[in-house]
Amino acid sequence: MTHPHLHVVDHPLIQAKLTTLRSEDTPVEDFRRLLREIAALLAFAVTQDMATVPREIRTPLAPMTGCKMARPIVLVPILRAGLGLLEGMLHLFPRATVGHIGMYRDETTLLPQHYYAKTPPNLAEGEVVLIDPMLATGQSAAAAVSELKNRGASHIRLLCLVAAPEGVEAMRTAHPEVPIYVAAVDAGLNERGYIVPGLGDAGDRFFGT
Ligand code: URA
Repeated sequence: MTHPHLHVVDHPLIQAKLTTLRSEDTPVEDFRRLLREIAALLAFAVTQDMATVPREIRTPLAPMTGCKMARPIVLVPILRAGLGLLEGMLHLFPRATVGHIGMYRDETTLLPQHYYAKTPPNLAEGEVVLIDPMLATGQSAAAAVSELKNRGASHIRLLCLVAAPEGVEAMRTAHPEVPIYVAAVDAGLNERGYIVPGLGDAGDRFFGT
């Protein structure tokens, strides 16, 4: 598995929290809190090379040139598991606009079924962060990126929690220029398309279903 823009955020704080998140003994309230905390830490990584422009301010002592983000941040979770990571990201980007893409996976074909898309008016000018916690086959993420491109987005990055090599490969084939930020790349997929060892169904664990 090679990908020109794969960033595995191998930070001890993230890895320790992710380990607890993965554990089947972790109850839903801890799962939600950990997901929020990891999202905030991943937000740091996903924004690391975003463009800034100069901003003139005055401190109480002197004028100075600081900076501000060059483009507005647009967060687009893939429903429904993406909502878990969204919450933590919004703490860091309280002014971000938010789009939603609805995809579910046909359990027989494992192919994504697209059922909903609503994006904000600043999508085309924004730094778009597509949020898909589990990059399994990669089909949903690839389809969601195509949808965002069709709607005018041009600065897109994908934020995931756990990826399978198959998902990374699918993204490389479909959208090689889109950078991927992920906390871990696991061994692979099982016959039902779940990431192993993974953490199970992220949506079920976050929503307690
Ligand atoms: N979606 C999940 O929630 N978990 C997986 O392991 C794969 C896809």
